[in-house]
Amino acid sequence: MGEDDLADGWFPESVAAGYDDPGGANAPEAVLPVVDVLEDLAAGGPVLEFAVGTGRIAAPLATRGVAVSGIELSRAMAARITDKPGGDRVEVTIGDMTTTRVPGQFSLAYLVFNTISNVTTQDGQVDVFCNAAAHLRTGGLFLIEVGVPDLRRLPPGQDTVPFRVEPGPDGGGRLGFDQYDVASQQFTSNHVTVTASGEGRFWRIPFRYAWPAEMDLMARIAGLSLKHRWAGWDRSPFTAQSTSHVSVWQKR
Ligand SMILES: C[S@@+](CC[C@H](N)C(=O)[O-])C[C@H]1O[C@@H](n2cnc3c(N)ncnc32)[C@H](O)[C@@H]1O
Repeated sequence: MGEDDLADGWFPESVAAGYDDPGGANAPEAVLPVVDVLEDLAAGGPVLEFAVGTGRIAAPLATRGVAVSGIELSRAMAARITDKPGGDRVEVTIGDMTTTRVPGQFSLAYLVFNTISNVTTQDGQVDVFCNAAAHLRTGGLFLIEVGVPDLRRLPPGQDTVPFRVEPGPDGGGRLGFDQYDVASQQFTSNHVTVTASGEGRFWRIPFRYAWPAEMDLMARIAGLSLKHRWAGWDRSPFTAQSTSHVSVWQKR
């Protein structure tokens, strides 16, 4: 890795180059329900996306006339925002969402696509909540979308859960598995792609998981109270069977 790659954390040019591949999380049916909810919660006010990435969500939200700012660690990811319709209207600041401040008071701050887990310490995650709250006007909202830790799939003595075993686009294969350390609440996502000719790529990224209840406590530390907890962007109820949650806290 070069110096720029290191500065870009776990999302250097080599990852950013494939991030906007069509389909999956970039497909309109994945993006539009997110944008609908965020536009509604913004209620006409300005919004701030933490870890704005390549503008997958921020750019289409900006096309709706919402004033969007973003904070992003990786220059390689952020460089792709202006490629998208609406991307030139997104105000981007390169920095770490645990500490970086941007001008303005926002109706809504949001952090989607499991990215709270990219911050791998409890203190760091609390800092994210506090930094979000510091950007909000009174009554403003902070939204997180993140998976529920998959620990119910771990029998005693096992630490690894597969989440993908499928053919690759070119006749090869794609494998994905998460490896948990339940003592430290750390886990690593492991991604293996093998081409038809047998060439392979192995990419791994560390995370810290937290239960929704721990996030409520982080929110409380930051002066926020839970307003909504949904199982997904369709605002369906969060239940014991939910595998992810969209939670919204309000600044007191
Ligand atoms: C899975 S991508 C999500 C990007 C975008 N929010 C989306 O929904 O497509 C995670 C992003 O978080 C960024 N990131 C990770 N840790 C960060 C931090 N501490 N501060 C700012 N950005 C961070 C990464 O560089 C990457 O662009």
